Amino acid sequence: MWRLWVLLLAAGALRVPPGKETARMARFVVHACDWGALATISTQEPPVRGQPFANVFSISDGEVSNGTGVPYMYLTALDISVKDLLVNGNASLTLSLAQTSYCKDKGYDPQDPLCAHVIFNGVVEKVTGAEADFAKMALFSRHPEMNDWPVDHHWFFAKLSISNIWVLSHFGGIETVTPKDYFNATPW
Ligand SMILES: *[C@@H]1O[C@H](CO)[C@@H](O)[C@H](O)[C@H]1NC(C)=O
Ligand SMILES: *[C@@H]1O[C@H](CO)[C@@H](O)[C@H](O)[C@H]1NC(C)=O
Repeated sequence: MWRLWVLLLAAGALRVPPGKETARMARFVVHACDWGALATISTQEPPVRGQPFANVFSISDGEVSNGTGVPYMYLTALDISVKDLLVNGNASLTLSLAQTSYCKDKGYDPQDPLCAHVIFNGVVEKVTGAEADFAKMALFSRHPEMNDWPVDHHWFFAKLSISNIWVLSHFGGIETVTPKDYFNATPW
């Protein structure tokens, strides 16, 4: 089944939910995306200190075709943004279908609401035990290079614990989706 899904993704034949179904759409975007921009509050030297700081992170919410909606990440304390998170775990994660073939095929600019994007706020938390096992499977299946990342960087598994969700997927303005509706939605 997942092979078929990969083929469908490769062919750009994404079964994208209707834009007005924002909870489903948010789940779909999260599962379709392999990476996102994560904004933290910078702890670097001035003039950046205290300012928003966006950086790219690989994410996965589960193996292809079986996502949970929880964005997992593989992090190291050596990372410039993770240093921020160790001081203040609050973060914003933005994911967009612009990274799939969908928006280009449709001729939707990344800033076009029809090129669906999701903006999360929450706290980045380390995960352990069975959840870390799940995060490893979710991430390594979609980012095989992670297997070879240097052991001395002391990588750990983390998730964005979601507190707020904004979805832009249709004309008429950005909409909030409650975490409850988000986790209850079926993305496909
Ligand atoms: C999908 O994920 C759930 C929860 O992690 C798991 O129980 C189930 O076996 C998975 N299904 C497939 C088809 O991999
Ligand atoms: C998130 O921000 C709130 C309000 O600024 C703060 O009280 C809280 O400690 C922060 N959470 C974490 C995990 O850093």
